Parts: sequence; structure tokens; C-alpha cells
Amino acid sequence: MPVVTCIEDLRVLAQKRVPRMFYDYADSGSWTEGTYRANESDFKRILLRQRVAVDMSNRSLRTTMAGQSVAMPVAIAPTGLTGMQHADGEILAARAAEKFGVPFTLSTMSICSIEDIAAHTKAPFWFQLYWMRDRDFMERLMDRAKAAGVSALVLTLDLQVLGQRHKDIKNGLTAPPKPTLANILNLMMKPRWCLGMAGTKRHGFGNLIGHAKGVSDMSSLGAWTREQFDPQLNWNDVEWIKKRWGGKLILKGIMDVEDARLAADSGADALIVSNHGGRQLDGAPSSIAALPYIASEVGSRIEVWMDGGIRSGQDVLKAVALGAKGTMIGRAFLYGLGAMGEAGVTQCLEIIAKELDVTMAFCGHTDIRKVDTGILLPGSLQR
Ligand code: GLV
Repeated sequence: MPVVTCIEDLRVLAQKRVPRMFYDYADSGSWTEGTYRANESDFKRILLRQRVAVDMSNRSLRTTMAGQSVAMPVAIAPTGLTGMQHADGEILAARAAEKFGVPFTLSTMSICSIEDIAAHTKAPFWFQLYWMRDRDFMERLMDRAKAAGVSALVLTLDLQVLGQRHKDIKNGLTAPPKPTLANILNLMMKPRWCLGMAGTKRHGFGNLIGHAKGVSDMSSLGAWTREQFDPQLNWNDVEWIKKRWGGKLILKGIMDVEDARLAADSGADALIVSNHGGRQLDGAPSSIAALPYIASEVGSRIEVWMDGGIRSGQDVLKAVALGAKGTMIGRAFLYGLGAMGEAGVTQCLEIIAKELDVTMAFCGHTDIRKVDTGILLPGSLQR
């Protein structure tokens, strides 16, 4: 078993174990992938101030996200097709998150269903929703989420239209996936993954099949998604969702100060500065570059979180310093999951927590809730 010391080690292992079409689906951005790369590389331009001879004992990473106590300011982001990185992937990731004490968010486009997660965990989880044309189905999804004890709804605002991901087209990742010769040969090189998949019945979109009108298998599902994502979404719809859901609401996909003001006006509990992991608008700034402008504009009115490019505890600390009350990790946990299932997600969370804890100490802080821009070298993140 190779020694794993960082998220990059998990990524390398995942790339070996997960079939190419699913690994690439997770690890890609839209068009030139410029925004996708900037999400990660912009973190490296932010420099930390090293402080010494400060009492660094009794450190704490514990804080809250939307009123929920969290072991560190990190939640598992909603990611599509998670159960294709590893058999029963969403259940495994939710279990790892529960044991660690951080929130898990289930995507609408997950393989395991809302009910699957509720049956395999005790902690309340979060559910991500897309705005869809089939309002009845959306309402049923919200009702199912409520019945399953979901404690916050994460509404994705940046997927009214889909950014083109070249790798998915080249790999034939359509619904249903195309069984090309290259795909079949690649699958034959991933015996562990195949064995896992042979041992589960969860192979399709668990939240949709058997629940959405006309969706009975993967092939009718392809047509359904193309028809279903609604390009007409507007702020009145957000208000409608807020009322219909009636619980905690988190708005995901805010990259602009104007939109951040509208999000704060909407009365949502948190907004997530996010460019969808660089998978939608190629040419948008990185999330970490957009964060400080949004946090300084609306941070006193609404909790501001961010996702995109987080691959270490150092990255989490930088996001917190720039005004994020919480962060979300997507690819980092998917690498862990693809590498070794639940143990890999646990390892991902442990790596990030340890890096965050020690780096905070190097910067002379002992309480994550007190970290602010003072830990950053002035001018180290300029546009
Ligand atoms: C879905 O949200 C995707 O980015 O593929």
C-alpha cells in the first residue's frame, strides 16, 4: 500500500483505480480549463505571515457553518456521479463526513439516493437542488429531502446552461455512456472498481430513476436532463424555493458582487462563492480571487463560503483569512473516494485538518474563528 501524505497522493491513486471516463469527468473544467486551473494556482500566490514565540497550545478548528457545529470549516461539496468514482460512493463519503464531524452534501445527480444516505447515516446531511422545469418533481425532491432529515438545501444557481467539457465528449461520457472499444479496454484495467460495481445495485441516478416522470433508465435520463435544466431561473424563483423549502437555504454559484447583494437580500442563510470548479464559465476569475470582494461587500449580512481549488489545509486557511466562514471540497474528497473508498475520504479530511491546524499555528493563531486577513502578507493576492 503506497504511503499517502497529501491530497495529490490520493489523486494519483484515484487516477489509477477509476475508469478514465469517470476520473476525467471529475477532474476537468470547461473549454480551455483556464478557470479550472486558476482555482488551484491562485491559492499559491497568497503568502502567509510566519509568526513565532506565540503560545500555540490549545488550538481549535471548530466553528459553525449555517448554524451547524463543524469540526473544521470544511463541508463535502455536492458532486455529480460520485457513486461512479467508487461503488456506493455517496454513502461512503457521507459516512466518512459524519464520523469526522463535517457536513456532507448530496447532489441531485447522485448515484445513491436521498433515502440511501438517510438509511446509512445518522447525522443530518445537506441536499443540492437544480432549478428544473418539472416543478412537481422539484417539489417532490424537496419533500423527500425533508422526510430524510436534510438540514439545509443548497440551490445551484450557475447551471442553467451547461459549460462544455471537452474530455467528456472525447470519452463518450453521455447518458447512457457509450461502450466504445477504448472504454471497454480501459475498464478491463480497473478490476477493483469493476468488482465494487458488481457488488452494488446502485448504477443509475438514484434520485431520479423511478421518481421523475418518464425516467426509467439511463437512456431516457439523458433526454430528461437535456430537457429539464431550466434556463429561465431568476430571483423570484429563488424566493419561491425559500418559501417552499422553509428551512436553511444556501445559494451556490455566486461570483459577482452584484449577485452577492441580491443573494444577501434574498434572506438565504449562506452563499457560496463558486465557479462550479471551473466547469461552467471558462474565463471567470478563480473563486479565491473573487472571494475577498464578495466577503467585504456582504459578509456582515450573510455567511460567505467558497469552493474551488482547495487541495490542502493551507488553502482552507487562506480562504478563511479572506473572509470565508466555511469552505467546500469537491475534487479533494473525490480523489480520496476513488483511491480507497470511505477510508480515502477519511484520509482526505484528516490531511486537510492536520495541515490547517499546523499552518494556523505557524501563523500565530490558535482559534480558527479569529483568523483574519492579518495572517496574509499584504498585497500577495492582486488581480
Ligand atoms: C454537474 O454539476 C457538473 O458539473 O457536471
